[in-house]
Amino acid sequence: MGVGFGALLPQFLDLLFDLLHQPFHSLLLLSLSLLNCVNHSFVILLHSLHQGREDFLALSDLSEIQRQVMVVSGMALLSSYVMWPYCLRRCTYCNFNKYIPGENNDLTMTECLQRETDTLLQLSQVSCITSVFFGGGTPSLAPASTVAAVLQTVSSRAHLSGEAEVTLEVNPTPAGKSRLADYRRAGVNRFSIGVQSLQDEDLKTLGRDHSSRQALQTVEEARRLCPGRVSLDVMFGRPGQSAASWERELRELLRVCDDHVSLYQLTVERGTQLFKQVQRGEVAVPAEDAIAEMYRCARRTLRQHGFLQYEVSNFARNAVSHHNTSYWKGRQYIGVGPGAHGRFAPLGEGGVVREARTQTLEPDVWMREVQQRGHGTRRRIQLGRRELLEEVLVMGMRMTGGINHKHWAMFSPRLGLREAFGSSSEVQELLQDGRLILDDRGLRCSWDGLVVLDSMLPALLVELERQIGQRLPRDPHAGQTE
Ligand SMILES: C[S@@+](CC[C@H](N)C(=O)[O-])C[C@H]1O[C@@H](n2cnc3c(N)ncnc32)[C@H](O)[C@@H]1O
Ligand code: SF4
Repeated sequence: MGVGFGALLPQFLDLLFDLLHQPFHSLLLLSLSLLNCVNHSFVILLHSLHQGREDFLALSDLSEIQRQVMVVSGMALLSSYVMWPYCLRRCTYCNFNKYIPGENNDLTMTECLQRETDTLLQLSQVSCITSVFFGGGTPSLAPASTVAAVLQTVSSRAHLSGEAEVTLEVNPTPAGKSRLADYRRAGVNRFSIGVQSLQDEDLKTLGRDHSSRQALQTVEEARRLCPGRVSLDVMFGRPGQSAASWERELRELLRVCDDHVSLYQLTVERGTQLFKQVQRGEVAVPAEDAIAEMYRCARRTLRQHGFLQYEVSNFARNAVSHHNTSYWKGRQYIGVGPGAHGRFAPLGEGGVVREARTQTLEPDVWMREVQQRGHGTRRRIQLGRRELLEEVLVMGMRMTGGINHKHWAMFSPRLGLREAFGSSSEVQELLQDGRLILDDRGLRCSWDGLVVLDSMLPALLVELERQIGQRLPRDPHAGQTE
């Protein structure tokens, strides 16, 4: 890419976006049709610059003209989540969609993941994939050839550039560690490692199948293979955990981690073994205020060590996860595999409205469906304006940067952030006591506000709904289910 053109491109995109709102958009469409001649390189060029300009490229509530522009010029971008649903055993706290495998059906599973990827990509009509995330379950049980095959399918349907973020979740067992180099060769360039705790006793209570030593060895190997692109998942608020032991653990974590850390507060989920243990009084989790203090301590400590918190649970030193940011910014993604979720407009079948899609949960049933009709989509809900804006709000407020005005306007051109939230007395109270900020940048939580985000969301959602009802015309796409 020429330096001169590269420097000008952001302005070109600004201009393009403004033009989309002008009456002479047919002319623009014609010009973009011409650009189609250089479609592929144009997309690569856009992709290399997309980080600063993604709002433009990930338009969601598409007008017909926008849809045509994107199809003709091949500009739609998308992320892909791929679910590997199997685990060797059930951790005591986990209520994710996971299954203990009976017979080995890796081959069929691989074929089905490929087939569904192909179907959903075709439906979405996107031409550029910016990230792929292999999650689970335990995707580090999947053969590396599965990962390579799925990436191959992605590449055959869309452009998957060398810069695309390709993450794989790893359970830090010796078997997981031994496969890392193969995954790297298969195209993975980022590892997310489920360390969960550095205390062996706690790992036992949680039902994990690895020790802290094995976790550290896996982290070391992952860092060797993908320096600067390794993330560690750790949970806090664990049974019997104290603030003092958490502080020690954080110091150890900072010694071994790479440039990305995800800290999750342990949720005692209904239906899990942990839930029953807590109910029966066999296990006690820390009190709420102790957990809140652990969170504050972690934020302070990580900040002191150069980690920028960019989302409620995520901290990075120049290594923000592109894939997860896509969710929080309300971008499109496909969800492939049993129980996976997706959000995209099915342009391939003439759809113009974004849909929330959920795939069939049970792997055997899902595989049969994929073999019969190319996909295992169990539920499709058209996201009307209200549902879409609620998602943009709830997801966007999780980021420390919140939602900026331009981003919000992409989804809500007629109801700005100030109109939507500025007149509510409840929201005013949150603004005045400093938990919420609404200024020239947009809407976001303050440092203290982020800790109590969940308690602020209901007031914001109620106000959003009220303002949509009062200020906007009826939405023809509101919540249609299939
Ligand atoms: C679904 S797991 C899959 C990753 C992998 N199987 C593992 O266990 O490391 C993804 C992450 O979600 C987090 N997680 C799962 N259950 C949780 C719970 N009940 N509360 C908080 N975090 C949880 C864990 O930190 C885990 O690393
Ligand atoms: S936490 Fe991870 S390894 Fe454990 S059961 Fe859940 S998905 Fe499987």
